[in-house]
Amino acid sequence: MINNAIPLRIAGVGYSVPKTVITNEDLTKLYDTSDVWIYSRTGIKERRIVSGNEGAFELGVEAAKKALSKSGIKSEDIEMIIVATSAPSQLYPAMGCRIQAALEIPNNIPAFDITAACSGLIYALSIARGYIASGMYKNILIVATDNNSKLLDWSDRTCSILFGDGAGAMVVTASDDGVDDIISIDIKSDGSIGDIIQLNLTGKNCPLVEPNEEQPLFIKMNGKEVYRFVARVLPEYVEKLIADAGMKAEDIDYLIPHQANLRIIQAVQERLGYSDEKVITNIKYYGNTSAASIPLAMVEGVENGKVKLGSTAILTGFGAGMTWGGCIVRLREGIC
Ligand code: UT7
Repeated sequence: MINNAIPLRIAGVGYSVPKTVITNEDLTKLYDTSDVWIYSRTGIKERRIVSGNEGAFELGVEAAKKALSKSGIKSEDIEMIIVATSAPSQLYPAMGCRIQAALEIPNNIPAFDITAACSGLIYALSIARGYIASGMYKNILIVATDNNSKLLDWSDRTCSILFGDGAGAMVVTASDDGVDDIISIDIKSDGSIGDIIQLNLTGKNCPLVEPNEEQPLFIKMNGKEVYRFVARVLPEYVEKLIADAGMKAEDIDYLIPHQANLRIIQAVQERLGYSDEKVITNIKYYGNTSAASIPLAMVEGVENGKVKLGSTAILTGFGAGMTWGGCIVRLREGIC
């Protein structure tokens, strides 16, 4: 961190999910699978997916309104919008600009999208932290929203069982009491293995030149390789993040991980020696909601009494890129 960095306060967090529930049983209408196979391999029983004209934008706006309302910060005081999304309905205008307009946030501030797949919330938080620490901006809205269900090959039974749709949002601001809610944050990537999760936008060459190879707009994933990579890297990474912060695993109250696969979460849990009460999961009901999954698990955890505020948590995520990251945060009373 830079010297004399301005500390950050997490002021409000919110989420939004679609109403439509698709159970594992429902998926048996699409292909040969079973609730037993899906649940035992992933920990997922059902997921929410968008229907009709609903999409990541609508979910994102809803989550942002909730985070703003909890934060007590008015939309006209937001100075930057960062949207983490890998499933926007338009590449441009950026979802950040669309959310700016929808929430009547002043029209002379920067608003942009980042693509770090399921690590998007932690990447966005890291960017926001830099701007707040430097004093350039005070109030930043982060929205993490994805609707993978529109980008799945619904005949691919290995990939389409995993994902659900949802959005999370955070309002962060310069802390006025000297306490930094980001105890530690780190982001990483390894592009050399980027081909294990891909979403190709190949487009189509000009008819005057040799045609290019076109690929359908579907998520392509080598699930086994993703699993192997994350199971190898993530538990050790989380342990090191805690040690580098000068802390011990037992100093932190909760693990709130990206919800991609219960077996991966359990591998991190085991490494940290955490009891089930310290590990917040809701993958059973939402599947993998990509960038939204951490704030969704956090706020839902508070709503159902699993997470007590006035505590600390380690957030960790991984996703396409491959990207990964982790963050140790203070969860103050009243943030959600
Ligand atoms: O943010 C994105 C992160 N992505 C992930 O975290 C994905 C991580 N990977 C995984 O979670 C697992 O690899 C999966 C759950 C996706 C798949 O589990 P797996 O144990 O790696 O399955 P597999 O692909 O090796 O397939 C094993 C068998 C195959 O049958 P055979 O060839 O052994 O006869 C598949 O055809 O299971 C079959 N199979 C299914 N059977 C019933 C694959 N998908 C299904 C299914 N239902 N949905």
